[in-house]
Amino acid sequence: LGPRLRDGLGRRFEYLRLSLTEVCNFRCTYCLPDGYRKRCGQPSVLSLTEIERAVRAFAALGLWKVRLTGGEPTIRHDFEDVARAVSTVPGIRRVAMTTNGYRLAERAQSWRDAGVDALNISVDSLDPARFAAITGHDRLAEVLAGIDAAREAGFSSIKLNAVLMRGVNDDELEAMTRFVATRDLSLRFIEVMRTNDNAEFFAARHVSGESVARRLEAAGWQRLAREAGAGPAVEFGHAKARGRIGIIAPYAKDFCASCNRLRLGSDGKFHLCLFGDGGFDLRPLLQHDDQHDELVARIVALTRTKAPAHRLHDGDSGATPHLASIGG
Ligand code: GTP
Ligand code: 5AD
Ligand code: SF4
Repeated sequence: LGPRLRDGLGRRFEYLRLSLTEVCNFRCTYCLPDGYRKRCGQPSVLSLTEIERAVRAFAALGLWKVRLTGGEPTIRHDFEDVARAVSTVPGIRRVAMTTNGYRLAERAQSWRDAGVDALNISVDSLDPARFAAITGHDRLAEVLAGIDAAREAGFSSIKLNAVLMRGVNDDELEAMTRFVATRDLSLRFIEVMRTNDNAEFFAARHVSGESVARRLEAAGWQRLAREAGAGPAVEFGHAKARGRIGIIAPYAKDFCASCNRLRLGSDGKFHLCLFGDGGFDLRPLLQHDDQHDELVARIVALTRTKAPAHRLHDGDSGATPHLASIGG
C-alpha cells in the first residue's frame, strides 16, 4: 500500500465515490422532479479504461473502498464490466453501489458475480402509492423483491436510504423501523439537502436529523459507538431489533469533521466535497497509462486543499445543481 491520503486537517481518505453517469430513470421529488435532463455542454462519461486508470491511481494512495453511484449507475450498458474492472484493481477490497433498485430483482446475482460486495438502495416509502408519487415510478413491489433477492445473493452489507420529508413520509418512521426490526439490514434516514434546483422544496419539506434522533430514542433506540473509519452517518440499535438505523444529517454541527470520502464525477471531475467546489478535471490525466505518477501527485495536491466543511449552513449549495450530478 502507498501512503495514506490526507487533507490539511488530518482527515484520511480510504473511500472513493465514483459516479458512473448522471442519468437516472427515476424522478425523485427532492432530486430530479422533472426527470433527468442533459445539461448544456455536458461531456461524455468516462470510458471503462479511463475509470480503471483513475481507480488505479486512488488505490496506489491506499484507497480500498469504491462506491459506484450516479444517477442510476446501472443505466450504463457496461455497468457489470465497470464493476468487474474496479473490483479487480489491486488494493480495492470493497466495491459498493447505490441504486434505486429498479432492476435489482433480476440482476442482484449478476452484480454480485461482477464483484459488487455491498448495496445501498433507496426506499423512501413502504406505501406503494407514496413510493410512486415520490419517485415517479410505481415499482415498490419490484424494489422490495429486489431487496430479498439481494439478501439471497449474499451481499456483505445492504443498506436502505429513506429521505424523510415533512408531510410526505415523516409519519412512516415507525413503519420503517418495524421493517428493519425483523431483517438484517441497515436503514438510514437522510436529511433533505438543499441544492441549487430544490430550494423551495427544501424549505417546505426539510426534517432535521435531530428530531428524527429524538423520535428514535423515545422508541428505545440507542446511539451506537462510532466504528473506526465510519462515515458521517450516526447509528442506532435496539435490543429487540435485528437491523440498525442510521441518520445522515449534513446540517448537524461537526458533520464534516468525520468526512472520509472523495468523489469522482462521471465526467472525470474530482470533487473534494458534495457541495461547494465545481470539481477539478482529472480527465486530461486519464489518457495514457504513463500519466499514472502525475495523476497520483495531482490527487495528493488537490486533496490537501479540501475545505473544512460545506457551506450549507449559509444556504450556499455551491455548484451542485442536484445530487445526481455528483453522485450523492
Ligand atoms: P456508506 O457509508 O458507504 O454506506 O455510504 P453512504 O451512506 O454515503 O452512501 P449512499 O450512497 O447510500 O449515500 C446516501 C446519501 O447520503 C447520499 O446520496 C448523499 O445524499 C448522502 N451523503 C453521502 N455522503 C455524504 C457527504 O459526504 N456529505 C453529505 N452532505 N451527504 C452525503
Ligand atoms: N437530499 C438528500 N438526499 C438526496 N439524495 C439525492 N438528492 C438528495 C437530496 N436533495 C440521495 C437519496 C438517494 C440517494 C441516491 O441520493 O438518499 O437515496
Ligand atoms: Fe434518481 Fe437517485 Fe435522484 Fe432518485 S435520488 S432521481 S433515484 S439519482
